[in-house]
Amino acid sequence: MTLELSLNQQPAHTRQGSSIGQPLTRRDGFLKVTGAARYAADNHPPGMLYAVLAVSSIARGRVVSLDIEAAKAHSGVVEVMTPLNRPALAVDPDAKDHPFMFRLDLLQNDGVRYPNQSIAVVIAETLEAATEGAALLSPRYETLPARVGLDGGKSFVPRGVGVGNPAVQEKGDVEAGLESARTRIEAAYETPAQYHNAMEPHAIVAAWDGDQLSIDTPSQGLAMAQGRIAGLFGIAPRNVHIRSPFLGGGFGSKGMISGPQVLGILAARLVGRPVKLVLRREQMYGPVGHRAPTRQTLRMGMDGEGRLTALSHHARTTSSTFDDFFEPAADASHTLYASPAIATSHDAVRLDTGTPLFMRAPGEATGSIALESAIDEAAHACGMDPLEFRLRNYAEVEPMTGKPFSSKALRECYEQAAEVFGWASRPLQPRRMRDADGFLTGWGMGTATFPALMFQAEARAVLRADGSGLMETGAQDMGQGAWTAFAQIAADGLGLDIDQVDFRAGSSDLPNAGIAGGSGHTATAGMAIHNAGAAVIARLADLATGNEASPLFGAGNEGVLARGGRLYRRDDESRGESYSEILARAGLAEIEGHGKGAPDPASQETYAKHAHGAVFAEVKVDPDLGQIRVTRLVGAFAAGRVINPRLVRSQYYGGMIWGVSFALHEEAVTDRRSGRIQNANLAEYHVPVNADVPSVEALLVHEDDPHVNALGIKGVGEIGITGTAGAVANAVWHATGVRPRRFPIRIEDLLG
Ligand code: MOS
Repeated sequence: MTLELSLNQQPAHTRQGSSIGQPLTRRDGFLKVTGAARYAADNHPPGMLYAVLAVSSIARGRVVSLDIEAAKAHSGVVEVMTPLNRPALAVDPDAKDHPFMFRLDLLQNDGVRYPNQSIAVVIAETLEAATEGAALLSPRYETLPARVGLDGGKSFVPRGVGVGNPAVQEKGDVEAGLESARTRIEAAYETPAQYHNAMEPHAIVAAWDGDQLSIDTPSQGLAMAQGRIAGLFGIAPRNVHIRSPFLGGGFGSKGMISGPQVLGILAARLVGRPVKLVLRREQMYGPVGHRAPTRQTLRMGMDGEGRLTALSHHARTTSSTFDDFFEPAADASHTLYASPAIATSHDAVRLDTGTPLFMRAPGEATGSIALESAIDEAAHACGMDPLEFRLRNYAEVEPMTGKPFSSKALRECYEQAAEVFGWASRPLQPRRMRDADGFLTGWGMGTATFPALMFQAEARAVLRADGSGLMETGAQDMGQGAWTAFAQIAADGLGLDIDQVDFRAGSSDLPNAGIAGGSGHTATAGMAIHNAGAAVIARLADLATGNEASPLFGAGNEGVLARGGRLYRRDDESRGESYSEILARAGLAEIEGHGKGAPDPASQETYAKHAHGAVFAEVKVDPDLGQIRVTRLVGAFAAGRVINPRLVRSQYYGGMIWGVSFALHEEAVTDRRSGRIQNANLAEYHVPVNADVPSVEALLVHEDDPHVNALGIKGVGEIGITGTAGAVANAVWHATGVRPRRFPIRIEDLLG
């Protein structure tokens, strides 16, 4: 029996459900509310120095001079790192071997390619001295005009969008479909640049010991970060030890290691002491990614029954001048509506900004706000209720591929959320509802969807002679409750109570937990944990069933169940023995098993995999002032097996609040003259607070999807944003009769 199980179809040796499905509170919650949880910047190794970045105040040009002497003369300043003395790297930070190797600004030259690009690092005995030293550098620049905005350069069709999808795709004949339509709409929408704005800024504490590098830094994917750092410094990945137990939010910005984090490592190498480097809030607007703005044009045709005859979705987006990431906004139209003809296309311009990156449902969030707005316009153009229109048009197989699809669950999401919301009493026409205070009231809806992705992960399971278990995988917990969900899966995988299982995570020295991104972490690392549990139980079963002294002798590996720290005969549950007894007889202190989580290629080939949902929103608009309030959100989501309903609901709440944020709040405003972001702070970059979302309800719709993985897990992290933003926009239309064309929706857009 091999201990390495591959893929995800290993049958469970345990009865599911003792821990999985329980609404446990976060296992790390106590640490967090008491302040005992240690975030990267909380680490202060002996002899540690503080590094502060000096960043460019221009968008484009080059640094002509820095007053290094003034900075070095400042009391407490130890060193100033610039392109002149920055330690060598093994590879060019501008090299790019594959699409996920992003170019980094590591003081390789005096060029400036965007505002807030690092131009020097000041290292000092205290944070204050380093900050003051950085201010003394007084950079002088040669400045070129900044290229800004969706028309800021010559447009081109990118080679790929998102994770390398084709920029242009077509099924059927869209022009013919539009031609034959009874009703047509064409509409354009603009979405803004957004920044991740995790509560915890990117931070690193780096310490070198010869060629061993220890770092504390928040990372959504430790093994990927480890590989990138090892490559840059020309050392073996095993020499890079990353601790990342907790993240104060990532949202995609901590998926890849960023330039400032690597500068912290370089600073530590330069001074030969541990160094801490933490980004200031405004420094997060540049080198650590963002969501690029879009301008999207949708065209739809409908026949006499309100069925789509054609759907065309074009998105213009932006990227940096020196690297490639293209928000795959139009791809949102691939997966939801059953038009016989669908065409999606993208083009882009290059601007003097930091490179955009994955951010909270990249593509789906941006694209679905336009798609759901347009679907609403199409429904009303046909004189149909938008729910009826969606029920008529949602796809029963994935539209672009024709693969089977879990659309039955989508219908249930529509129906359950509509029922709870009270949608049936909605007047079809806008401006028909007012509340007691005279506010215009509107109801809107949106469909939510997000792919059920899996990546690659590994886990190691141990059973010990005292009957306890251990599960290890190098996952961080970025606030979503990953550790709790993983411990629940581990407990069931090992056939133990959750309190009998130690769960070790948060370090790159542990098995690779893959990446907490693409809403695929629970499915991927969860399957690795499940398979590691199955592997160690199989090993234990071998020990018992092959031994005449065991009551399980001759039952065969498949004939055994694990539960409550005991193995039983599947055909006679009165016959069994404890893990401890089996290990004691074998004279073993512990046994181990390894498992992997990965998508199953055969199943990928056959089935389309998506989570689905429906979100309904109520808004109230002041008829004189145009001020918009969201007063109620109801979402229903089907995302396969729910590992922990408390955590899952919380993910939906978070996603829905992002949706409100997208519709009404978030926008990075660029100064067209300087190319700088004017609101690079959390005071003026608006995000919702509790008063902005008074009532949020998330319904969990039961769904068994046996095709995603053996546990039936889909992702829940990002789907909530996708339906909600459109639902809010459509509710604003229903309240006011004004169709929002740009996001966030502004008061002045509603005042005639
Ligand atoms: Mo996310 S944008 O998959 O961290």
